[in-house]
Amino acid sequence: MLSIESLDVTFTGERFVPAVRAVSLTLAPGRVLCIIGESGSGKSVTLQAVMRLLPPGGTRYGGRIMACGQDVLALRPAALRALRGQKVSMIFQEPMSALDPVYSIGEMIGEVVRMRQGIGRAAARARAIEALELVQVPDAARRVDAYPHELSGGLRQRAMIALAIASRPELLLADEPTTALDATVQIQVLLLLRRLRAELGMAMVFVTHDLGVAAEIADEVAVMYAGQVVESGSVGDILRAPLHPYTRALISSSVQGAAAGARLATISGAPPDPARLPPGCAFAPRCVAAVAACAVKAPSERGGNGRMIRCDQVELN
Ligand SMILES: Nc1ncnc2c1ncn2[C@@H]1O[C@H](COP(=O)(O)OP(=O)(O)OP(=O)(O)O)[C@@H](O)[C@H]1O
Ligand SMILES: [Mg+2]
Repeated sequence: MLSIESLDVTFTGERFVPAVRAVSLTLAPGRVLCIIGESGSGKSVTLQAVMRLLPPGGTRYGGRIMACGQDVLALRPAALRALRGQKVSMIFQEPMSALDPVYSIGEMIGEVVRMRQGIGRAAARARAIEALELVQVPDAARRVDAYPHELSGGLRQRAMIALAIASRPELLLADEPTTALDATVQIQVLLLLRRLRAELGMAMVFVTHDLGVAAEIADEVAVMYAGQVVESGSVGDILRAPLHPYTRALISSSVQGAAAGARLATISGAPPDPARLPPGCAFAPRCVAAVAACAVKAPSERGGNGRMIRCDQVELN
């Protein structure tokens, strides 16, 4: 469904920023991968690379992204548009950035459906109502004619999810889709996504700061630090038996560990500026397990059988 091999994303504008470095991830159909990590670790850039949404002029890609059988970084514009409109879609953290204020919810969803299925306006409107019902927007037949600003934050988020799933994507990319919502709405949206994933058989990549959310929804977890995946594996392995000192710090410094609603606590020090990475392991300056060698030699990925770790100090059995 999705296979990212040694992805590098470098911004080459005013500053040279290696925002994503040698990231490899895989996702099977119908599975959910959560990406966690502090602010600036490259989570959003990784998702945007899968849709190739980054500014074409100032972005350099390396490695390979296979999504729904397509070599994303090699696609021509028309094929890229088809992939985005139909097979892969994205939910953004801030719904207003995805919803166009001059169109009603029904017009936006209808357009997606028409593109995919080549049906008329009336049929598309009916499909839009169905999509809103699927995401449990109350009184969908009336709300289909509403404009984004007429909806509450929670309904807007649902409308954006309806828009993202209207094309029945095989792969849904969700960038902190619940962070902007209050706690009860967050849980509802999460349950909704979980149900949709089961009903529609979508695979999902889900970015979150919230370990509780990851525990609820993930099959696999990837932990990112300074543009790299430092550890990945099954949700049970990562949350219950983390190996990398960074993952351990994240989990143990959260008051309730992986309990619901626990946010990733801050650990002492700050992540490096990606434009000025330290030599050796990027986490070494903050790492309790670091030895002299860590500041010199960058660790490479180790592991197998679905578990990966990027740290030379950890024994793997
Ligand atoms: N268009 C751009 N040009 C230059 N640098 C960028 C651009 N977009 C992102 N970056 C930089 O890339 C790094 C990774 O950003 P990214 O948005 O992926 O972080 P994130 O993990 O999603 O963080 P957050 O949790 O805050 O959303 C950051 O240092 C950011 O400043
Ligand atoms: Mg982000």
